[in-house]
Amino acid sequence: MNLERPIGVIDSGVGGLTVLHELKRQLPKEKFIYLGDTLRCPYGSKQENEVIQYTWEMVTHLLTFDIKMLVIACNTATALVINQLQEQLPIPVVGVIEPGARAAIKATKSNHIGIIGTENTIRSQAYEKALKCINPNLTTNGQACPKFVPLIESGRFMEPDAIDVVSESLGFLNDHPKIDTLILGCTHYPIIQPLIEQVVGDQITVLSSAIETGLEVSTILTFHNSYNSQDHQQEEPVILTTGSLHVFQHLKEEIFQLKSASLKQITLA
Ligand code: DGL
Repeated sequence: MNLERPIGVIDSGVGGLTVLHELKRQLPKEKFIYLGDTLRCPYGSKQENEVIQYTWEMVTHLLTFDIKMLVIACNTATALVINQLQEQLPIPVVGVIEPGARAAIKATKSNHIGIIGTENTIRSQAYEKALKCINPNLTTNGQACPKFVPLIESGRFMEPDAIDVVSESLGFLNDHPKIDTLILGCTHYPIIQPLIEQVVGDQITVLSSAIETGLEVSTILTFHNSYNSQDHQQEEPVILTTGSLHVFQHLKEEIFQLKSASLKQITLA
């Protein structure tokens, strides 16, 4: 196998950059190609069959780059499509839900975990299933926050009144005082993690699945003996989007230190 082949990373938009950033940090020698379907974002409120079709279109595009592994850096697509992708693709496929569940189980002391995500992710109960599969004694409460992704994709998260949207969406936590760990069950949400932490206070640990997903990708590369062994200079990721370059440009340079990553707009068949 050619170990220099890139790892493919997909999301409905800019959210998966939070995972790409961590993958790049943990695996600096690997090549990455990222595709965000910004044009059709958000996936979180779309019909299941649409999310399945759009995800397959992204995957089909990335397969043309001969990727050696696929990371679904989107909770919504992980919740609805990972089983099909794992069954049908000839390469390893990693999602973000099981890693996120593992991270939360490590962090909780009260065994009461909150999950915020898109409408599709919360409705699927994928986090509850992943958490309770490991520890059936956990108590969980999920809440959809449909205003967060448009806030982030539009860039309005940088405006002063963004905190009001966050505060209003997290009101459910007042009804569940035993929650000590909150899973950001959407890869967009770490972009507004400082606002979320400001609202929930320091009694609640806020965490995403990015670090644990990186560990899982490393484990799989080790298992398949497929680390990039070339001793070349670090290569910057290639970032593709179906939509506007504007927010990608800002996030990749100002937040994710991916300044020299190339950014290109594409059309999916
Ligand atoms: N970033 C995605 C997730 O993790 C999806 C956001 C959306 O398209 O609604 O769920």
